Amino acid sequence: MSEQAEAVPDLLTLPGERQQPFADRADARADPDADVAARVGTLGHSAPRAEFERQGAFLHVGEFLPDEVTAGLVASARALQDRINRNYLPGHKQGGSVSRHTIDQYAPFIAQLYRSKALIGWLEQICGEQLLPSPEQDPHAYALYYYTREGDHIGWHYDTSYYNGRRYTLLFGVIDESSCRLDYELHTREPDVPTQAGSVQIPPGGLVFFDGDKLRHRITPLGANQMRVSLTFEYVTDPGMRPWLRFVSNMKDALAYFGFRQVFKRLAKGQPPRA
Ligand SMILES: [Fe+2]
Repeated sequence: MSEQAEAVPDLLTLPGERQQPFADRADARADPDADVAARVGTLGHSAPRAEFERQGAFLHVGEFLPDEVTAGLVASARALQDRINRNYLPGHKQGGSVSRHTIDQYAPFIAQLYRSKALIGWLEQICGEQLLPSPEQDPHAYALYYYTREGDHIGWHYDTSYYNGRRYTLLFGVIDESSCRLDYELHTREPDVPTQAGSVQIPPGGLVFFDGDKLRHRITPLGANQMRVSLTFEYVTDPGMRPWLRFVSNMKDALAYFGFRQVFKRLAKGQPPRA
């Protein structure tokens, strides 16, 4: 498990400027809610909702985020590169992650986007359910996923919900200088509906939105000298979780994604586990 560097480079400070923590600089960016509100006002929800239903709880929108919001995500993703936790699970997964705890510290612009009322309201229209943010202790609530070394990938899986309710995944493209694809299979858990395979690339500012227990999916391996960064948001319909499943979820997050330090440091500090 790699230890993360303590120092974060202040990439935005010009010579002669007063030194400011990156978080303060990121805070200086406008709240993305108004930009997202304008976008979803144009896009509407009727057609996306129909497509989401037709595809068994899966939606792909090639161009979603306004350019200025995408630019903010790209700047945050590049600034957080020294904070990546690399993981390798033979035969299943290889790549890097930055958890919501690190994002809270150094890129609050992303946390603002996660809580955008316009964004959540639009997603609720699409899936037809009330969506809640994931509990504070969940490192997946919002996280950056980095594919930076040849062969980085994740094999076929579901974004299984360990919560009492459903878990929805919203995935934004942030940086895509790669040949990676999101391969997916629709309707795999609907016995009377034929499985339908698909494959998309997600350009910066594009999104996919799906019910984690219904979409079987993978990311194909990164080629040489390529780079890909995605941002995922996780929303739930009931944030309660049984203790045994909480243990399973924490161990999986520690081993496969963020490292024990990120996942368990709040518990070690005596903070309560997930509600
Ligand atoms: Fe996934």
